[in-house]
Amino acid sequence: MQDQFNRNIEYLRISVTDRCNLRCRYCMPAEGIQWMPHESILSFEEILRLIKISTRFGFRRFRITGGEPLVRKGILSFLEQAAQIPGVDDLMLTTNGILLAEHAFDLKRVGVQRVNVSLDTLDPERFRHITRGGDVNRVLQGIFRSLEAGLHPVKINVVVSRSQNYEELPKLTELARNYPLHVRFIELMPIGASDDRSDFVPIAEMQKLLDIQDVKATDDVQGGGPAEYYRPPGFQGTVGFISALSRHFCHTCNRVRLTADGKLRPCLHSSYEVDLRQALRSGVSDTEVADLFAKGVWLKPAEHHMNDREWQDKRLMSQIGG
Ligand code: GTP
Ligand code: 5AD
Ligand code: SF4
Repeated sequence: MQDQFNRNIEYLRISVTDRCNLRCRYCMPAEGIQWMPHESILSFEEILRLIKISTRFGFRRFRITGGEPLVRKGILSFLEQAAQIPGVDDLMLTTNGILLAEHAFDLKRVGVQRVNVSLDTLDPERFRHITRGGDVNRVLQGIFRSLEAGLHPVKINVVVSRSQNYEELPKLTELARNYPLHVRFIELMPIGASDDRSDFVPIAEMQKLLDIQDVKATDDVQGGGPAEYYRPPGFQGTVGFISALSRHFCHTCNRVRLTADGKLRPCLHSSYEVDLRQALRSGVSDTEVADLFAKGVWLKPAEHHMNDREWQDKRLMSQIGG
């Protein structure tokens, strides 16, 4: 459907849990966070009802996020039901990859088209440091199992931080040279736990480091997101960039978000939310829930204000779903 700024909104990102089996430094504090209580989390039935309602308005891409979506019990059966809803053309997952190796073939079987996997470093020690305890080999196994399972295209999300992984960028692009993987470098967004702006590296600087300025952008990578892709000569995959800050893409934004506690969040970086959970649980008809949903989409803000120094969000990234 169109929003008030004539953007076509057709992509719903659904956070199914705020819990996670990692504690990435830019995402969560070391001690974790106060998890949302179980009763405030939408049930899978409630989420399926909202997906059906959203397809009335032409929503067709659905990305399941968290926290870490694979830690939620019953996720496979939920995905299987979601994939069967008429109008759901694209069902995708963003995951940290820790539980991916054991789930990749099942994900494909139940109807998930593809996965995006977070991986900020290939170095086991550094990975343990950034994620506060994660095992990089499990993520790598998950990535390769996903390729084997046919969850194409498999994309890698690298959040770039000056002090943590900047000098490793050339090495990470080797993944895209040697495998049909799409390695995307993401500008660190000052949200929640990552408000130290000294770690921020602009995309232009990454591209210079990777000597990619003269390669022409390609549009043959399937996706609904804001990444720009480049395929240097001889590469099986591509190198992509997501520049949320330095060249923001709000004017072409096509998505809204649903938080695990049932708030429709029209913009990642605006605290404006519509309480769908309350409507779902008050026994109102689908038409009334649909009206509320459409109102939230219509009122999607024009752009974010993350570049303002005093900008701050009340939620962490793990509570929104990235
Ligand atoms: P596809 O292009 O369909 O593969 O998905 P995607 O890139 O939108 O999804 P993914 O979950 O992998 O997100 C990658 C990065 O893009 C994350 O860091 C997200 O936070 C960021 N991102 C996704 N959507 C938005 C958005 O609307 N605004 C901003 N600023 N960042 C976004
Ligand atoms: N800035 C940019 N990307 C982030 N992600 C999590 N926190 C941030 C941040 N502060 C990424 C994760 C994941 C995706 C959903 O969002 O690495 O790949
Ligand atoms: Fe978990 Fe993703 Fe946040 Fe890391 S970035 S703590 S994997 S939700």
